[in-house]
Amino acid sequence: MAPDGNGGRAQKSVADEVLNKLKDILGPKGWSQDADTLAPLLVDTRGYYHGACALLARPETTEQVAAIMKVCHEAGVPVVPQGGNTSRVGSATPDESGGTILLSLARMNTVREVDPVDYTMTVEAGCVLKDLQDAAEAKDRLFPLSLGAEGSCMIGGNIASNAGGINVLRYGNTRDLVLGLEVVLPNGEIWNGLRRLRKDNTGYDLKQWFIGSEGTLGIVTAAVLKLFPLPKERATALCAIRDLDACLDLLARARAASGDALSSFELLAGITLDFAYQHVDSAKRAMEGSYDWNVLFEFSGLEPGHRMNDALETMLEKAFEDGVVIDAVIAQSEQQRADIWFLREAVVEAQAAEGASIKHDVSVPVSKVPEFINRSNEALHDFMEGIRPYPFGHVGDGNIHYNVTQPAGMDADAYMAAAPEIHDIVHGITADLNGSISAEHGIGQLKREELKRYKTKLELDLMRQLKSMLDPQGLMNPGKVLDI
Ligand code: MLT
Ligand code: ZN
Repeated sequence: MAPDGNGGRAQKSVADEVLNKLKDILGPKGWSQDADTLAPLLVDTRGYYHGACALLARPETTEQVAAIMKVCHEAGVPVVPQGGNTSRVGSATPDESGGTILLSLARMNTVREVDPVDYTMTVEAGCVLKDLQDAAEAKDRLFPLSLGAEGSCMIGGNIASNAGGINVLRYGNTRDLVLGLEVVLPNGEIWNGLRRLRKDNTGYDLKQWFIGSEGTLGIVTAAVLKLFPLPKERATALCAIRDLDACLDLLARARAASGDALSSFELLAGITLDFAYQHVDSAKRAMEGSYDWNVLFEFSGLEPGHRMNDALETMLEKAFEDGVVIDAVIAQSEQQRADIWFLREAVVEAQAAEGASIKHDVSVPVSKVPEFINRSNEALHDFMEGIRPYPFGHVGDGNIHYNVTQPAGMDADAYMAAAPEIHDIVHGITADLNGSISAEHGIGQLKREELKRYKTKLELDLMRQLKSMLDPQGLMNPGKVLDI
């Protein structure tokens, strides 16, 4: 069901001489051509894209990555970098030609240093995100990047895709959490930009070229990340709101009541919770009733005790009196907090049980979210009877996962055939509201053609010029982001 497909390229192979050079660099444990080992790495997490490769390279050091890139550069062989293989847009899947080297960063997983005084952590690209959160916590610090795939995604991929997640409202995207980078360039040169400076105004900020570039400009091998004080207290609530407009009112109240210690503010349409309760075994019902619009939000702070919970409760009482909130549950224990957050994750997997789903990851100015959802719902209901919009996500950032589930009982393939028109409707409204067609998942292969329609010619020209300056042969993760 890949919307764009990536086949059609001529079958290619990589000369034995080149493969032997790469094997020598990597040593016996550093490469594989075994079909069973390769299989899970050659399909993306949504099963949209299937690829092939001539060799899986598993380097252990930056020097090995550099040596591989030099050989590939000289031989004109494309390289696809891969971390935890959790891309939502096919960024880490090679094409089907078989003429590619798949370069996994998984063995480069050392936390080089956690510095609680500088509030920094220097880490290698293959570190799993959850392990980094734990390493920071062991030194009484917080690394705030948090998302559903955190148990398997790797920081190199998070950086390459400028990952977002549930704490962006307070701490920013990955881009805001990176102080320095080490990058191997397409020609094999190593750029050591592992600085831990909070201020550095010495010309262009080169690291920003690579953050969010999805491995098309170079390979991130290590990074210096920003840490924060570890919150000692959290207050978490799930509440039902009067209508969609009320989410903006509640957002303003929550920011004010917490002294802007609001770290998450997530919208859950009624249908998303209903599906989670129906289809995910361990999803526990949080509120007795079912409501059209719900918000999960969390305050996090430093003072132990119950001050945050008190502030949250007082704010909710007033919101209730004012008719903004119509039902609510405040987590009374860590377990209850975990159960509420489990629901948030469960809505993502629950969709699949109801058939095919056409996904959008859009952002609009926060104030325009209700208009975006209302207009999209209306347009889609006009377009197809029984269609089931499934909006959820990071409303505090203006980022909605506006997924659209097929009408009950419809043939899934017939529904997917309407995907281009559905994308046109949703992305058209997004563009009309000055939004973005990819707020956090990136472009990869999935949105490459859409990108051409929603960026200006000048923006696309500048992106192409940057790509050809760093990678004139087009060897770095070809066909991702741009069709080069
Ligand atoms: C989320 O916020 O749950 C994810 O970005 C949604 C997804 O993976 O599709
Ligand atoms: Zn998300």
